Amino acid sequence: MISFEQIFNAAPEVEASAPGRVNLLGEHTDYNEGFVLPTAIPQQTRVSIGYSPNDRHHFYSANLEEGVDVAPSKLVPEGFARYLNGCIRVLEEAGHSIPPLNVLVTSSVPIGAGLSSSAAIEVAMLRGLRLLLNLNLSPVQIAQLGQQAEVRYAGVNCGILDQMAASLADTDRMVFLDTRTLDRQILPFPTGTKILVIDSGVARSLASSAYNQRRAECEAAARALGVKALRDISDPQATETLPFPLRKRARHVITENNRVLKVLEGVSACAFGELMNASHASLRDDYEVSIPALDELAGILQNTLGVFGARLTGAGFGGACVALAIASEVRSIAKKALARYTNAGYNGKILVG
Ligand code: GLA
Repeated sequence: MISFEQIFNAAPEVEASAPGRVNLLGEHTDYNEGFVLPTAIPQQTRVSIGYSPNDRHHFYSANLEEGVDVAPSKLVPEGFARYLNGCIRVLEEAGHSIPPLNVLVTSSVPIGAGLSSSAAIEVAMLRGLRLLLNLNLSPVQIAQLGQQAEVRYAGVNCGILDQMAASLADTDRMVFLDTRTLDRQILPFPTGTKILVIDSGVARSLASSAYNQRRAECEAAARALGVKALRDISDPQATETLPFPLRKRARHVITENNRVLKVLEGVSACAFGELMNASHASLRDDYEVSIPALDELAGILQNTLGVFGARLTGAGFGGACVALAIASEVRSIAKKALARYTNAGYNGKILVG
């Protein structure tokens, strides 16, 4: 892949990276101030930064082989550059002065698979800028700035799950995060287990409009139930006064939060797997963010020997499934499940495992 020197004729001043993430439980709970349980995946996004010789920012994506030049304080409406530019803008809005920059992005985080390639680029860029400009930013502040960049400059009204995971998670453990207080605990995977992730081969579609609609439905449900956020309710029966579809949306969020909290009590691999299976059913039936390909893939994984549980991961409407499986057999389990998924007529791919 092309190097910084080849594009910009100079060595970079700093380099930084951040991983993609996969969420094990706690889907569509973060914007309801609830609980999530992500871990990092091995795929990373790397950002190399130097000073621009002129008054413009120069952004280059090695994967897309595409460069974008931007005058400082101009907006970038689309593509990878808006994440970089968004990070610069949120830092400027926080009072930092950012000189014109040369930036190269190289990434192995799959795009459109629900593994947060955008949070990886934001966190890598903010880490790089922290290093370059000697900024005093904690990992939580990096996540918060990344989320602002995404909301304000990429137009996705997301919660804080992805950026917190990219900033705080590693591949060996899970992060239990309370998205209201940002309190967190690092937890081990259930003994003898590992995760595997398979891409359904169906890219997400309608994701942002449906995402914003679900979010609005949750806010309407919280208002109708007289609470600040659905996080404030733990009994799913409380939803029974709500009209459809708000009742189903709220029921998903409440039961999903309860599933994440259950893990905190300490559960076996089998019990953890059952929580994942129940999460998939709830995302399919109550939250209605699954699609036939994800149901097929999750079903195949759930029925493969050695798998404790499986579910769609990320916002839904396409993307990947995550499964918890016997650690020593993860690779062969992933291959077996993929073969069955291929036989069912789909074009999937093993991403982790
Ligand atoms: C996307 C958003 C996250 C979260 C998930 C669903 O990844 O960016 O904030 O809401 O969907 O859990």
